[in-house]
Amino acid sequence: MPATPPPRTFPKTFNVKSFGCQMNVYDGERMAELLTAEGMRAADESEAADLVVLNTCHIREKATEKVYSDIGRIVKDGREAGAVPLIAVAGCVAQAEGEEIMARAPSVRVVVGPQAYHRLPVMVAEAAAGGRATETDMPAEAKFAALPKRRKVGASAFLTVQEGCDKFCTYCVVPYTRGAELSRPHADLVSEARALVEGGAREITLLGQNVNAWSGEDGKGRRVGLAGLAEELAKIEQLARIRYTTSHPADMDDALIEAHGLNPKLMPFLHLPVQSGSDRVLKAMNRSHTAEGYLRILERVRAARPDIALSGDFIVGFPGETEAEFEATLQIIAEARYAQAFSFKFSARPGTPAATMDGQIAAEVMDERLQRLIAALQRDSLAFNRGSVGKRCEVLVERKGRHPGQWLGKSPWLQSVHFTGDVALGDLVEVDLVEAGPNSLGGQLVGRAAG
Ligand code: 5AD
Ligand code: SF4
Repeated sequence: MPATPPPRTFPKTFNVKSFGCQMNVYDGERMAELLTAEGMRAADESEAADLVVLNTCHIREKATEKVYSDIGRIVKDGREAGAVPLIAVAGCVAQAEGEEIMARAPSVRVVVGPQAYHRLPVMVAEAAAGGRATETDMPAEAKFAALPKRRKVGASAFLTVQEGCDKFCTYCVVPYTRGAELSRPHADLVSEARALVEGGAREITLLGQNVNAWSGEDGKGRRVGLAGLAEELAKIEQLARIRYTTSHPADMDDALIEAHGLNPKLMPFLHLPVQSGSDRVLKAMNRSHTAEGYLRILERVRAARPDIALSGDFIVGFPGETEAEFEATLQIIAEARYAQAFSFKFSARPGTPAATMDGQIAAEVMDERLQRLIAALQRDSLAFNRGSVGKRCEVLVERKGRHPGQWLGKSPWLQSVHFTGDVALGDLVEVDLVEAGPNSLGGQLVGRAAG
């Protein structure tokens, strides 16, 4: 007789906490949908969940340490309250350090990598029955096909179109945690986008570690890139806005650049990391572009869409970075005039080539460079935001503000805009931009937008 499978005793409530990039936010939402489909419900803020999923990020060292401190805190709080929840570690730390987590943290019952989380319910059932489950293989099988249909979502939704990376920048763990580049099929993306719009989304942000490397076959069997996908999605009537992130300069093809001038639903915003302004450092990073080549791409994008808001990522203190090379980064920032940007101190990630390169930079030097970088970037975001004052634009209402009657939304240029008035979540409204700070703008409501 075949053995009877153990009863599926499921926890009743869950809490998924996502760290790191927007792709993790997307994965976190999908895990929540999977668990909901199994009859669990998201715990209220005031309530201790029966299952906690830590959806982790491995990109910098601090992020990894945070996972262990979070586990410790959950266990301590649980003991004090009389019940330790079932803990699952998902995401990129799970992928990279699964075995170590299982050994170091006995309270963790499930470890699941980013390519395998469609198996989460089965693994939780195993853990609930007293076992421990690990799944960090990177199978080629489509995880996405195993996920439930999207239902209720916010006004602005994420859609992962591409995963993984073949670029192997020498500092980066992504090729090891997320695997090789993989594009999801065109038809699947169009139907998921439709479901998101039916579920309430007015804006969709297409996600990928190398989102502009996406390619697929459209309904007519033609090979198209991201511009072609955006063109197809723009046909969804109730969808008002399309964004995409994160792009690599090497994959910024002509069609995508031109799409910024042709596709009215494609928002005037581009996150295009350069990482450094020094050609020697860029080469050591194995970036396939020079500073000059990058600036030329920006010029072409600006020619297609003059009001485009640009964003980037920067690493200070890459091994061997001299003062002059750091100043080259300040120089490229001055030339690019970013609307916003993210800056990081180099973090040596085990297994990456840069971790063992000569010339590792002292922490104080990195700190000092980061401060100067942040000051330059803040100067430019303030200048960009001040340049928007006096414009009338559409704002997508995403959240209630802190004050009564106040709302928060995003301008086409991805600026946070706060204003008061009689509107509802998900409305597209017309707003006059009247005041600017480095991180947000104040607006005055004009009325409902036509869209
Ligand atoms: N150290 C510091 N920053 C890093 N990033 C990626 N890997 C590292 C690292 N080892 C930054 C890059 C990337 C962003 C997502 O994180 O700037 O674009
Ligand atoms: Fe962090 Fe990269 Fe994983 Fe995103 S893909 S969670 S940035 S390590």
